[in-house]
Amino acid sequence: MSRTKFIAGNWKLHLTRAEGSALASAVAAAVPAGVDAAVCPGFLSIASVAQAVSGSRLKVGGQDCHWEEKGAFTGAVSAGQLKDAGATVVILGHSERRQLFGETDATVNRKLKAVLGHGLIPIVCVGETLAERDAGRLQDVLRTQLTGGLAGLSAEHLPTLVIAYEPVWAIGTGRTATSAQAQEAHAFIRSVLRGIVGDLADRLRIQYGGSVKPDNARELLAQPDVDGALVGGASLKPADFNAILAAAA
Ligand code: 13P
Repeated sequence: MSRTKFIAGNWKLHLTRAEGSALASAVAAAVPAGVDAAVCPGFLSIASVAQAVSGSRLKVGGQDCHWEEKGAFTGAVSAGQLKDAGATVVILGHSERRQLFGETDATVNRKLKAVLGHGLIPIVCVGETLAERDAGRLQDVLRTQLTGGLAGLSAEHLPTLVIAYEPVWAIGTGRTATSAQAQEAHAFIRSVLRGIVGDLADRLRIQYGGSVKPDNARELLAQPDVDGALVGGASLKPADFNAILAAAA
């Protein structure tokens, strides 16, 4: 089953609007044929970045959203507002949101339904901590996050679903999962997805995230179930992110 590789940059809490537009323009000019690419700026830069890359193949995404459409939710941003600003992708359930902001599988599930309701592409993040891996709980953790995050949804709702496998111990640490560890986790994730969406599981993309750099991207992306990457630190440097895009081509 051939799946178009999908490389997304998660800018986290970095860059001004001007810096973001310059970076996104440099990336947009370098997206190779046959590769899907996105950048996910902070909320305040989404509209300006989307404008800077309009007409290109580079997608723009949010890093989170609220599950409600509108109302008394101070500080929240809705999926509809992201779409209005020019986003077509939304990251959900990133481990930093889970660890620092109280995100749970239940809130990921509510947000996912809001994102799907607006026709946006969800990137749902899953992944284990080092303690969980060392305790032999990798599969338990992934299964729980997937079944909780996707609860109540089936193939008809999820044709664009993207999963990002991000082992928490590999994020921002310079410590990457080996290609064998990534492949093993991705194959397991796909087997769980098959139980939820049936044969669609073979068409859904599973990104790897965690210290992806130009020098390890090619080997990770060569694994049969690694269909792309969710890139943090290296997505802030145009030369590095473009090298990762080239490795996916
Ligand atoms: P790094 O690439 O900086 O390890 O971050 C990965 C990540 O969290 C992407 O969402």
